[in-house]
Amino acid sequence: MTWSQRFEGTLNEAIARFNASIGFDIELIEYDIAGSIAHAKMLAKTGIISPQEGETLVSGLEQIRAEYREGKFVPGVESEDVHFAVERRLTELVGDVGKKLHTARSRNDQVGTDTRLYLRDKITEIRAALRQFQTVLLDLAEENVETLIPGYTHLQRAQPVSLAHHLLAYFEMLERDWQRLGEAYQRVNTCPLGSGALAGTTFPIDRRYTAELLGFDGIYRNSLDGVSDRDFAIEFASAASLIMVHLSRLAEEVISWSSQEFNFVTLTDRCATGSSIMPQKKNPDVPELVRGKAGRVFGHLQGLLVLMKGLPLAYNKDLQEDKEALFDTVKTVLVSIEAMTILMAEGIVFNRDRLDNAVAEDFSNATDVADYLAAKGVPFREAYNLVGKVVKTCLASGKLLKDLTLAEWQELHPQFEADIYDAIAPRQVVSARNSEGGTGFDRVREALKNARQLLVN
Ligand code: ARG
Repeated sequence: MTWSQRFEGTLNEAIARFNASIGFDIELIEYDIAGSIAHAKMLAKTGIISPQEGETLVSGLEQIRAEYREGKFVPGVESEDVHFAVERRLTELVGDVGKKLHTARSRNDQVGTDTRLYLRDKITEIRAALRQFQTVLLDLAEENVETLIPGYTHLQRAQPVSLAHHLLAYFEMLERDWQRLGEAYQRVNTCPLGSGALAGTTFPIDRRYTAELLGFDGIYRNSLDGVSDRDFAIEFASAASLIMVHLSRLAEEVISWSSQEFNFVTLTDRCATGSSIMPQKKNPDVPELVRGKAGRVFGHLQGLLVLMKGLPLAYNKDLQEDKEALFDTVKTVLVSIEAMTILMAEGIVFNRDRLDNAVAEDFSNATDVADYLAAKGVPFREAYNLVGKVVKTCLASGKLLKDLTLAEWQELHPQFEADIYDAIAPRQVVSARNSEGGTGFDRVREALKNARQLLVN
């Protein structure tokens, strides 16, 4: 029986199942045990229990951890949640002294501590996965500095860019994701243990000692805040959502690129799947799933925000609902980063010929014609209007800019000379955009070097 003598009857079975979180919060067991070990040591250190009692509790807890790892500890609904499950087992193992573990503690500060310990680990894992993904993107970018790809705005051909530059854009997004998680980590790494149920405790506990044992950077200054806010989880879910936004955008591009309409990449057999009815098909299931999973993670963020918005201080059982959202966010982000890493490493091959043709076959060098005249002193807006007219004529006659004869160019404007052909060749067009942060090859090489440097740190 879990509750105090105040209770006479037993809980309705369906309600017991409804109330229980053991089905999912078992995920926290290693953190729960770590938190309890620190708490037991603190109780002994402060003389709240004897040193011997402290040792008994710690070795009992370690035994539970071993049992769990061996698959021998499988608590059920009768334990309600992971905290009760561990405490019950402890008392079975070490006898009545096990009942002293919960002195000067509540499940409220306990669960807050467990969740933060869990998230701390997971943030570290996700950041490592991001680093790996960045490495793959960087490797791919390094091979493709001079591979050109149409650059789009409004999904209309705009100006060609270096493929490396395009890939590095994602590298940068992921870099910010990595940083953002690092910043969230700092706030996750604050210890609420010792807040008690809501108001602190009458015992002479040493909160800084438990925080230090658990590797926290500091403690919550206010006990009500310590047990009741979940802003750290929301902040994490928000950072996770941004990661999914970035993955999903790249996924969307790979999906488009692999369509026959674009044909910029071919999916390798390592990451593509077939159709059960159409034998000719090769489907981009991997990026599609990533794009789909993004919605799931955004849903968890929304769920957490709504969960919190009406809660009075301090703990409310609603907070039990934070866990599945958090666990699923962590798992979804991790598998999505992994899948995208594999996809970019071995799942696609860029069709270089097709890309070369693509950038040579359009009017994405039109800005460069205007720039050519502007560099010779023609006001840019005037040059822009003139080139607009040229494009219109070319479209009508089925020609590209490169097909115009020098005489035709000069008829359009006397400032055009033979070097106009060089100026509008795709390679030149890209290479000339050497402003800081631009796609010019020199800038891209510089960016690659800086990116490599970031990964070392
Ligand atoms: N399983 C609970 C949760 O996840 C633990 C805290 C329970 N506290 C309480 N006052 N009922 O939130």
